[in-house]
Amino acid sequence: MSKIKKIGVFTSGGDAPGMNAALRAIVRTAVYHNIEVVGIQHGYNGMIKSDFIPMGPRSVSNIIQRGGTILKTARSSEFMTREGRAKAAANLSAQGIDGLVAIGGNGTFQGATLLYDEHMIPTVGVPGTIDNDLYGTDFTIGYDTAINTAVEAIDKIRDTADAHDRVFYVEVMGRDSGFIALDVGISAGAEYIAIPELEANFEAIRQKLTTGSRQRSSIIVIAEGCFNGGAMDLARRMSEFVHLHYRVTVLGHIQRGGSPSARDRVFAAKLGSGAVEALLKGELNVMAGEINNSLVLTPMRDTWEKRKEIDSRLVDLAQILSI
Ligand code: F6P
Repeated sequence: MSKIKKIGVFTSGGDAPGMNAALRAIVRTAVYHNIEVVGIQHGYNGMIKSDFIPMGPRSVSNIIQRGGTILKTARSSEFMTREGRAKAAANLSAQGIDGLVAIGGNGTFQGATLLYDEHMIPTVGVPGTIDNDLYGTDFTIGYDTAINTAVEAIDKIRDTADAHDRVFYVEVMGRDSGFIALDVGISAGAEYIAIPELEANFEAIRQKLTTGSRQRSSIIVIAEGCFNGGAMDLARRMSEFVHLHYRVTVLGHIQRGGSPSARDRVFAAKLGSGAVEALLKGELNVMAGEINNSLVLTPMRDTWEKRKEIDSRLVDLAQILSI
């Protein structure tokens, strides 16, 4: 029998499409198991300020299709201090909250690890970030929607690039990782994909852009974490030895918004529900992810301490397909 009677749920860090779908699954699964649910607004900041709201099955109606997060989110600097975490823990205990479900990414799970180490508050994490850079899960909630948004945008850019015979340097999100860039670049048929995991080969880019047999418009996809200044920086460097008309497009936060794809909604439902059930079974500090289509619980610390590797077969494939 689980000792847990009341859980807190929150979203934290960068929002991702599908966070609401996960929240809906968490609240309804908890209520199904007769567990009370408190929503914590504005991430860890809300925990520190007791920004709590009661939640029930109807408070998550009509949100499955909405991007963003109805609980709001934040990156909390106060929670990164020991005092901030002590305040948060005291507020949770005053509310009678015995466990947490956290929807977020690296920073969120780092915070949850500290909260457990210092105050023994059990948390199960649900991976919600468009970056797909969490160890312990093949995908993260929001990734599928974000890459589809980016590909749709690049398909449009191709039309105008082709009309003017221009090179477009398109920057996609992914501060420390190239998952988005790699999938988006392959899907959009990019001539070159620059990711932070691999050193950029300027000579290869020059050749791609200048080989005579090529059509004269080209798309180069760059993860924002590359070089010192992402696409702008690469375009400037290349312009020194490639004299072609070019433009730079930074897709930016458009990739974070919008209605989640069906795939992200189903994924969020499975992981949200799985996280609550894990908490009720006594799991203390893990993330509920999916590997090879099975629910897998990974120690929370591993999710941010270990690095999820880029699929090298995809890197090779991108090269073969862009000859
Ligand atoms: O972590 C998700 C993410 O969208 C990254 O890809 C990006 O670097 C970052 O968040 C941007 O964060 P902010 O919205 O705080 O500028």
